[in-house]
Amino acid sequence: MRTRWILFGIASLITLSLSNCKKGDTGTHQDAGEGELNLPVLDAALVNQGKNIFRYETFGDETTWTDVLQMNQVIQTAVDPTTALNVGLKVDASALPAAVVTGIQNGSISLTDPQTTLALLQLNAVVGVKGQVSTASDGTLQLDRVGITCALCHSTVDNSFAAGIGNRLDGYPNRDLDPGFIISLSPALTPAQKAVYSSWGKGMYDPRYNQDGLNNPVVIPPAFGLYGLPKAIFTGDGDFEHEPVGPVAYWNRYVSVTQMGGHGKFSDSRLGVNVDNMGSGADLVTDKLPALQAYQFSLAAPQAPTGSFDAVAAARGKVLFNNKAQCATCHSGPMFTDVTDGGRLHNQDASVATDKDYVDRSATKKWRVTPLRGIWQHPPYLHDGSAETLTAVVDKYNSTNGLGLTNQEKADLTEYLKSL
Ligand code: HEC
Ligand code: HEC
Repeated sequence: MRTRWILFGIASLITLSLSNCKKGDTGTHQDAGEGELNLPVLDAALVNQGKNIFRYETFGDETTWTDVLQMNQVIQTAVDPTTALNVGLKVDASALPAAVVTGIQNGSISLTDPQTTLALLQLNAVVGVKGQVSTASDGTLQLDRVGITCALCHSTVDNSFAAGIGNRLDGYPNRDLDPGFIISLSPALTPAQKAVYSSWGKGMYDPRYNQDGLNNPVVIPPAFGLYGLPKAIFTGDGDFEHEPVGPVAYWNRYVSVTQMGGHGKFSDSRLGVNVDNMGSGADLVTDKLPALQAYQFSLAAPQAPTGSFDAVAAARGKVLFNNKAQCATCHSGPMFTDVTDGGRLHNQDASVATDKDYVDRSATKKWRVTPLRGIWQHPPYLHDGSAETLTAVVDKYNSTNGLGLTNQEKADLTEYLKSL
């Protein structure tokens, strides 16, 4: 697997250490989270290109969101900024000119008028939504085309201006977003489809429903902290074998083509999925995958804020994690996952989540052990969101695996998880 990373590497011999811990500080035994993965330094120009793609590229998916789903009509008639913020859409404060900021602050710009949403789209200020806006002869704005980008689900903002309005945080899953509800507003769907989409709820999405017709949504995961993992997604479908650009690019191609409606091709015989969305036009996906993947690989998992956990209890929790609680048998190695150990995956019963069926819909029919850095940032936990908090995660493992942890030990282990 190491060879593949080197092949993937962008002609650089300088290596980057993913870990700030020293090897072998406990003798022969190495705790989870320690050790190093030597990965090539990412090409800065490529990363920067990927950032623009991640934030602003629709891959031509306006043909789905406008021509098929008619979301431009829905937004223009019914989605004022207050409604948009309520369904979890975020506004990039840095895209707002001073006059707009003042207008929002003093109330002269209405947040209950869809025209304001169109003005925000014209400023390219709605995270993950790209609109082409024109002015009608009577002076009103109209939304001619609309499409979505990766940032819709995998970016949020820091709320520095107001709730839902602030600086972009790329790679952070938008767990406020209700993508199913938004899609359910489309007049192009049948009542049965609308019922499925609107049932998913905030932070959840089923990226296979429109392919296999089954329905068990999963949480939107982070797109940070992934550099060094040989397999992508909960079930490890993405790898070099099935997408030469890399594991994350495998899934980026899948989502951009089959979910966003971007113009490209995706096929995987393991899934029986073969989608060609190009029509008679060009492939707008393939040549963007290397940069898009490089950008995601550049996003490190965010460190736990100082004061957000009890360091003394966390130190005791670390010992439990690596010993009595047996977490490190699977959450091993520098990234807290044994997938870095030759791409290892686990059987269906390795997950303590409530839903067990999602894995059957995947290409591998197995679970990848989830990397744990930055988990403090994105409750709820497990692929189906069935653990509301890290305390709930520990409770699930304690009862499922019969660990016999005392209340004190459970609390210590939780503090450690909060610190990762
Ligand atoms: C509608 C919401 C949505 C959009 C838009 C979306 N994703 Fe995702 N993404 C998901 C969900 C849900 C999953 C979890 C799928 C799974 O693991 O089975 C996911 C998984 C991922 C992962 C896997 C992370 C890991 O742990 O391996 C990456 C990376 C990712 N998406 C990046 C992207 C990129 C890049 C785009 C744009 C091309 C994109 N996503 C568009 C919802 C979305
Ligand atoms: C048998 C292997 C195995 C063991 C042992 C194990 N895990 Fe996991 N862990 C997994 C798998 C697989 C997943 C993904 C399951 C899912 O999402 O349904 C996971 C997911 C998680 C998550 C959710 C991460 C997220 O982003 O939602 C946390 C937290 C976690 N494990 C912590 C622990 C702790 C703490 C222990 C020890 C008490 C532990 N795990 C023991 C395999 C394991």
